[in-house]
Amino acid sequence: MTAENDPVPAGLTPPPAASAFPPGFLWGVATSAYQIEGAVGQDGRGASIWDTFSRTPGKVANGHNGDVAADHYARYEQDVALMSELGMGGYRFSVAWPRIQPDGRGPADARGLDFYSRLVDSLLEKNIRPALTLYHWDLPQALEDEGGWRNRDTAFRFAEYAQLVSEALGDRVKLWGTLNEPWCAAFLGYGNGIHAPGAVDPAGSLIAAHHLLLGHGLAVPAVRAAAPDAEVGITLNFYPVDADTQSSADLDAAHRIDLLQNRLFLDPVVEGAYPADVREHFERVCGTGHIEPEDEKIIGAPVDFLGVNYYTSYRVAGGGEPSGPSPWPGAEDVRFLDRGLPRTGIGWEIDSDGLRRQLVRISQDHPGLPMYITENGAAFDDTVDADGGIDDADRIAYIDGHLRAVHQAIGEGADVRGYFLWSLLDNFEWAEGYGMRFGIVRVDFETQQRTPKKSALWYGNVAVAGGLPH
Ligand code: NOJ
Repeated sequence: MTAENDPVPAGLTPPPAASAFPPGFLWGVATSAYQIEGAVGQDGRGASIWDTFSRTPGKVANGHNGDVAADHYARYEQDVALMSELGMGGYRFSVAWPRIQPDGRGPADARGLDFYSRLVDSLLEKNIRPALTLYHWDLPQALEDEGGWRNRDTAFRFAEYAQLVSEALGDRVKLWGTLNEPWCAAFLGYGNGIHAPGAVDPAGSLIAAHHLLLGHGLAVPAVRAAAPDAEVGITLNFYPVDADTQSSADLDAAHRIDLLQNRLFLDPVVEGAYPADVREHFERVCGTGHIEPEDEKIIGAPVDFLGVNYYTSYRVAGGGEPSGPSPWPGAEDVRFLDRGLPRTGIGWEIDSDGLRRQLVRISQDHPGLPMYITENGAAFDDTVDADGGIDDADRIAYIDGHLRAVHQAIGEGADVRGYFLWSLLDNFEWAEGYGMRFGIVRVDFETQQRTPKKSALWYGNVAVAGGLPH
């Protein structure tokens, strides 16, 4: 969305942009189905692994679950209107697989598809580009009962689901993401078990990662067949990793975390093969026989863009004592160090330059790969002022710093085409429940009232101006 194309929404007063982004840069916000929709029993939706997990005592802070969430299923029109008032050019959302196939297989439920069809139409009516993610972690429970992502068959079920959704919406949705953060789905879901389905199985988590990637590779041609003129990609969560010292133990620790966090997922997708060290690590942890001969070719189906999620970076050292379940299969001994940087409310160190470094590295390692920032944002403990306003200066500073990093990365050659801020609304932050607020719009979970925070207006002005004010 360019500043020239659209009238400035009432309520925004964008100053001219001093740090302008390229023309056509897409400014948007992001959410995901389970985190905002609620209505988990409505219109034939089946159970997902997050319904089961969040009802298991002790798994989610304060016993919270997504039953109601931000009630977006009922309030989507209001939320689209809000995005329009904020001058948004794009909206990244996810489709809940169990709304489309309640048991993870078989024909589509028309009621589920209809919800997303109405959502897409109301976005297009407001000139907001829909960016659809097919999988943001809410696997149908029926598929988990058959092994979930540890079962190779789930990859094929995912491709069928992708076909159903793209046949229904491919005429109107032109930006498609297959998976969101397969690292989390695999390693938090099956590695240390802090996410659904809560398994603690290091080898199984690595096998799940491979099956997720296989599902991605099978889904890409399915989406292309239904939406030949659409852009199709995947969203990965990147963390630049530095070794604490140049000792071989620290360098080896950094190498393994980078391998498991970044290269395991990116390299096969864009190069069509696991690098030799990734495959060796995989086989050391899982044994052989899980990667079938044609798999890498399937995973390497050409993509049009890479979605980059970025929140923080790591400094690591080797030689630690493995302490309990880890989301790093084969790197349980690695220590994650405190660099003394300021942290967001969820405890993640703030390193905006890490985003610049990550984008530049990707553009150098894989030249010609267009990227969207599909998530970036921050949780802070917002306070509501006496007049009801929320002056979230810390969130504004976080976003400002990271946008500057994106701007610099573009100047250094990274082909970044858009930025989706996480998140439009306060929402269900997985194992943390509703306590961690990432929204630029506050949600009162008692009344479901939406109140734009100061960051929402600030970001709206940036989006409309097409860049940062100073
Ligand atoms: C990444 C995930 O995709 C999203 O669901 C989550 O809420 C944010 N990061 C913040 O943790």
